Amino acid sequence: MRVDILSLFPGMFEGPFGESMIKRAIDRGLVQLNIHNIRDFAHDKHRTVDDYPYGGGCGMVLKPEPLFEAVEAVRERVPGESFSVVLLSPQGRLFSHKVAKEISKHSNVILICGHYEGVDERVRAVITDEISIGDYVLTGGELAAMVVVDAVVRLLPGMLRSETAVQEESHARGLLEYPQYTRPQNYRGYEVPAILLSGNHQEISRWRGEQAFKRTRERRPDLLEKAVLWKDKEACE
Ligand code: ADE
Repeated sequence: MRVDILSLFPGMFEGPFGESMIKRAIDRGLVQLNIHNIRDFAHDKHRTVDDYPYGGGCGMVLKPEPLFEAVEAVRERVPGESFSVVLLSPQGRLFSHKVAKEISKHSNVILICGHYEGVDERVRAVITDEISIGDYVLTGGELAAMVVVDAVVRLLPGMLRSETAVQEESHARGLLEYPQYTRPQNYRGYEVPAILLSGNHQEISRWRGEQAFKRTRERRPDLLEKAVLWKDKEACE
């Protein structure tokens, strides 16, 4: 998968993409991440990328030319390939596990990080999708782009321990995840539930299903309507 990110603050990506799972995915060649400075596509010597809004009002608007040209430049690097061009903005459709899965199926993705009061409306002519990571306004699309890349990259084939692990984690089935425990068996008097030590995999699977359901009902009842009913799954090795 190739991901090209168009940003006014490319330095913001250095930390998050230089560590942990994303770094591993890059090192293993599962994803190629290219960060582009939108200012490199500005037309004047001051590298201006924003301007006052027509009709007045406060704040600045991202100009269309640098964004159009940046998208074209990326497309030219891999001619003939289809691209998903995603604008990160608070006005997009809400990001979710389902949307992450959808994006993970594309081989080429361009993420445009919006800024200021927004982008010139004509930029919507070059985008194929618009995504918001939540009902709040960030100072720019960079953090949203990082969230999207993180959630998508971990779904790429070869990233996670097993398919079962992906299927069983929170949100994959529309339920929150069941409680997990590791050693020690007793920590400061807090015991691991006996069922998990029983060795009875059918019973363990049933208990986990119940726990996932209970937890979802208590914390996120809104998810239950859409949830897939729990089925027994083979153990995750
Ligand atoms: N840019 C500013 N706020 C945002 C949000 N909530 N989601 C995606 N991009 C954004």
